[in-house]
Amino acid sequence: MVGKKYRVLSGMRPTGALHVGHLKSVIEEWLSFQEGGNNCFFLVADLHALTTDWVDSKSIRKNSLEMVKDWLAAGISPEKSVIFLQSDVPEHAELFTILGMITPMGLLERNPTYKEALEEFGNREKLLNLGFFSYPVLQAADILLYKAEKVPVGKDQIPHIEIARDIAEKFNRIFGNIFPLPEPVLSESPKILGSDGRKMSKSYNNAIFLTEDINRITEKIMTYMTDTARKTRKDPGEPERCPLYTLHKVFSPKNDREYVESGCRTASIGCIDCKKVLLKNMLPEIENFQSKRRELEKSDDSVIDVLREGRKKAKEVAQATMEEVKKAIFG
Ligand code: TRP
Ligand code: SF4
Repeated sequence: MVGKKYRVLSGMRPTGALHVGHLKSVIEEWLSFQEGGNNCFFLVADLHALTTDWVDSKSIRKNSLEMVKDWLAAGISPEKSVIFLQSDVPEHAELFTILGMITPMGLLERNPTYKEALEEFGNREKLLNLGFFSYPVLQAADILLYKAEKVPVGKDQIPHIEIARDIAEKFNRIFGNIFPLPEPVLSESPKILGSDGRKMSKSYNNAIFLTEDINRITEKIMTYMTDTARKTRKDPGEPERCPLYTLHKVFSPKNDREYVESGCRTASIGCIDCKKVLLKNMLPEIENFQSKRRELEKSDDSVIDVLREGRKKAKEVAQATMEEVKKAIFG
């Protein structure tokens, strides 16, 4: 049986260099939808970036272009998917306004990302803007404008997709059935831990970036945290407790993983040996990514062309949806 083809939408805020955690979880999930022949839309959430980065707004455009280069080098293809800037399609703002009218404040007050950010940063002026509070409403507009059925994202985004679903359900109930209810899709790839054993994240300073120098990556791997119970070469270890092993899970083939697992548990290999096996598998993949990216680095023109083309295709769909929406509301 041929699988059903879905309308898929996802996006990322252009906040800077992507790391292997992004590649192996979210981007590979995007790729599998793209290669499965689904109708995919990938947006650069530059308006969302403005919620926190308005202080340094000029960096957003540059970061957007850099991020699209990462996507393209990873295999996201403008021939198969629509790649565009959120700020290039004003219908996002238009649908946002309309959805805001039916979004209860309580739904946004309960948003875990909002609550966490308030706790983490305190009531700093930077976060006390309406745009930050209404972040999930704009995200709902992103999704619903393209009538997306599947939204492949990282775990941290699940609450936002659920809010989008709630808003879609309410809209449909009040104005008529226009929007499919979007479903979040989580990557099956295991969680990737950073060099200090915490979740890999740019802000923890424990990440391996895709554009990083190969020698620097090798150094980082050599000093990566391992199973802390393995104090000496003679102590057996447990891969499931080892941050470095999370990289084996996504870069090494099965036979190498089995070799490393049993070698670790019986102390027949040391952590250095184990790290060398990882590098053998990981570096060629990163080098391949980097050589594709270097082609795109020669000039921004090709990336700008991709975004111009994407804008055209996205706009067509977005305009059609807005016509339907306005008709449903105002008659
Ligand atoms: N909020 C997402 C992030 O921080 C980015 C995003 C914006 C998004 N709009 C979206 C993700 C729509 C999925 C669907 O990464
Ligand atoms: Fe981790 Fe490998 Fe060392 Fe085991 S041998 S603790 S899996 S680095």
